[in-house]
Formats: sequence, structure tokens, C-alpha cells
Amino acid sequence: MKVLFIGDVVGSPGRNCLKQFLPKLKQKYRPDITIVNGENAAGGKGITEKIYHEIKESGADVITLGNHTWDKKEIFDFIDDVPSLVRPANFPDGNPGVGYVITKFGNKKIGVISGQGRTFLPPIDCPFRKLDEIVDEVKEKTPYIFVDFHAEATSEKQAMGWFLDGRVSAVVGTHTHVQTADERILPQGTAYISDVGMTGPYDGILGMDREIIINRFLTSLPSRFEVAEGREQINGVYLTLNKEGKAESIHRININEDRPFFD
Ligand SMILES: [Fe+2]
Repeated sequence: MKVLFIGDVVGSPGRNCLKQFLPKLKQKYRPDITIVNGENAAGGKGITEKIYHEIKESGADVITLGNHTWDKKEIFDFIDDVPSLVRPANFPDGNPGVGYVITKFGNKKIGVISGQGRTFLPPIDCPFRKLDEIVDEVKEKTPYIFVDFHAEATSEKQAMGWFLDGRVSAVVGTHTHVQTADERILPQGTAYISDVGMTGPYDGILGMDREIIINRFLTSLPSRFEVAEGREQINGVYLTLNKEGKAESIHRININEDRPFFD
């Protein structure tokens, strides 16, 4: 079982980069399932229905979200009507959308779960207790379980990795937009990385126009962030899993002008 996951797609540069590189990456790795975090896909904040379909057409089977889930008002009009969009499972009960999906491919299934951390992020329900419940549910249907844990603090991400070690195939961090070099397979067979990084502008600050951000640090005045222009990058991970759903390998994908794509 092979899984390709692409980190936070930021604005139109991220979507362009996805269009350009996702088909090439799929040709290279031949994944059974491709998952893309799209929570920053619409101008850096949220997702629209049109962009949901655009990312699907670029080659995503499932799209995960995060703290910007509700930023585009139209999300409420379509989140319950599309089949492959997953928002953090530990948003309060009764929120629209779903916190996990079980996707079929051939005669197999994989559960894709989204969770969100609470450290330096808005207070929501406990991600540990919520994912604990969901993993038990999904485990009854398939041994292949992928977790996108959208969180700011590396400590909270590591805690989730160790908490779910042996119970899920992978705990993959998103949200910080900076790829970490700590990918590994934990002792009980869960692939882990603190953050896969982002897809979009390469020369911005976390994907945003850097002049605006630097000025914000200099002046402490409120400012409207804009998605950066210029060179692009695509970041993610490629995983292989055995028949029991345990990870066999985790490989970082980090493509930009300094590290070009090779077939
Ligand atoms: Fe985020």
C-alpha cells in the first residue's frame, strides 16, 4: 500500500505547483491514494467549492483541512455535499463536515483522519481523546489509517505520534509550513513526521508576502497578509505500508529550484 501526501497548498501558487508536479509525483511513486492538505488553498485561508474540484482534478483523492476550515463562508454550503473533504475531527460536536473518511481503492480501504492541536491554536475539543475514539471505529473497517495532525507545537505533534504508535499507519504533521527532518517509523510501526511543509511560494514567509510580514514585525501594526509571488515549491511525504497497515518506509518530498525534481 502506497500513500502520497502533499502539505498545505497555499493560494494560486500552491495550486499551480500541484497541477505541475502532482501528476509527475504520481507517475514516479504510483500511490494507491493521494491526500492533499487544502486548508490554505483559497488565498491562503480556507477552501472554496471550485478550488476543492480543482485540487481533485490535479490528482487528490482526499483533501484535508485545518484551522482555516471555516474562513471562506461558502464552505458551509458545500462541505456536507462533497465526498472527500475532511476537517479536524475534534471540532465541537455538531459542526458541519466530517472528521474522517474511509476511501476505497480496488478491494482495499484506507481511513483518513484529520485532527487539530490546541497549543497556540483556538481551544477546541481534545484531539487525543477524539482520535482515540475514531481510530477504534476505523480499525474495525481497515488496518490502513492515515492521520493528518494539524498543529503548531512540535511537542503536541510528537505526543500524538507516540500516543497513536502501533494503532495507525501514519501521523503526519501539517500547519507550520516548514518541513522538519525528523521523519521516522516509531517502534510499533507508525510513520511519523512533525511537519511535511507547504506547497506554494518558495520565497515568502510561510507562503505569505515577506515584506508585509517583516513590516508587521517592525511596526507591530495590524496588516493584511497576501500570498507571495515568485518561485514555487512542493512538499510532502511518500509512505509504504505493509498488509497489517504498519509503515515500512517514509520518504520526504521537497521540490524547489534548489532541489529540483528527478524522475
Ligand atoms: Fe493551518
